[in-house]
Amino acid sequence: MTAQPAKKLLVLPGDGIGPEVMREVGRIITWLEEKRGLSFEITEDLVGGASLAEYGEPIRDEVIEKARAADAVLFGSVGDPRWNHVGFEKRPELAILKLRQELALFANLRPAKVFDALVDASTLKPDVVRGLDIMIVRETVGGIYFGNPRGIETLPDGSKRGINTEVYTTSEIERVARVAFDLARKRSGRVCSVEKCNVMESGLLWKEVVTDLHTREYQDVELSHMLADNCAMQLVRNPRQFDVIVTGNLFGDLLSDLASMLTGSLGMLPSATLGAPGANGKTPALYEPIHGSAPDIAGQGIANPIAQILSFAMLLRYSFDLQEEGQLIEDAVSNVLASGLRTADIMSEGMARVGTSVMGEAIVRELDKFQK
Ligand code: IPM
Ligand code: MG
Repeated sequence: MTAQPAKKLLVLPGDGIGPEVMREVGRIITWLEEKRGLSFEITEDLVGGASLAEYGEPIRDEVIEKARAADAVLFGSVGDPRWNHVGFEKRPELAILKLRQELALFANLRPAKVFDALVDASTLKPDVVRGLDIMIVRETVGGIYFGNPRGIETLPDGSKRGINTEVYTTSEIERVARVAFDLARKRSGRVCSVEKCNVMESGLLWKEVVTDLHTREYQDVELSHMLADNCAMQLVRNPRQFDVIVTGNLFGDLLSDLASMLTGSLGMLPSATLGAPGANGKTPALYEPIHGSAPDIAGQGIANPIAQILSFAMLLRYSFDLQEEGQLIEDAVSNVLASGLRTADIMSEGMARVGTSVMGEAIVRELDKFQK
């Protein structure tokens, strides 16, 4: 066997439960090295509140450079109530926003998949969510998150005005729509494009550009359009009507939280954020759980590590085309759930409640069973 070059990962655990759930990914990495002959070169650094405490800024330029140099970034979560009252330029959340922007990570893939064993964890009826498997493709470097003008200004009468601007250009819409159409081709072949063209010009352009691209290049994919408010309603009413949803930054933020809760727990869902392949053929990519830093339960050893572990499985699949290893991890998670182990967030009657590290260990033991 020829030795493969080590896969360069930048690991950024961040705040709150980030470090403790990331520790469990460490076990999986060790397992892959020992049992599957993979080798990883891992660099770790601080972001978010952890970086603010140490360096006075949510992310250093040096860390952005490390992210550029890595094959993939594995991100935990940022958000720390100690910085709730500081300005935007000093908020922990700036770490993830800057990484997205600096690496031009424009396509955020957020799957919402219901594990059979967890069908009862959803607040929706089992019949509505059983077998659910949708993918939200959210634009992440444009829209109202980054549009100008922005700010808070003081008016002549002394009162204030807060301003943010929703902007999308043809090319920004086209590149994210392309990701959605390509994904749909590998899934059940349907894309629903979501905007508010009834009230927003940026939404009108969004719809036009997606329709044009579809006509030009993706007629084999079934395209539908939906207003964002209706989409929120339809996701709760009948979520299985969707396959791939493509939408802008803000609507995607909202709809992906909504969709994730259909599965019963934010603690279960991974995500990938991808850029465009560079001249060196490398696609910049960052993987993170959808859940936040959950400061209320941080440090107690009770957080669910599964979203972080599944984010790592996505990393193996998307950044290294290690489909088999990605599948092994996903199957191990599924079997552990089927065996009845549950962290607090997905606990239900008759199941065995475990903490973060017991869950991580159980997943590794399950991997061991496949390997024999
Ligand atoms: C997310 C988060 C972020 C966002 C925050 C932490 C800036 O909510 O990834 O969905 O709004 O994009
Ligand atoms: Mg969000």
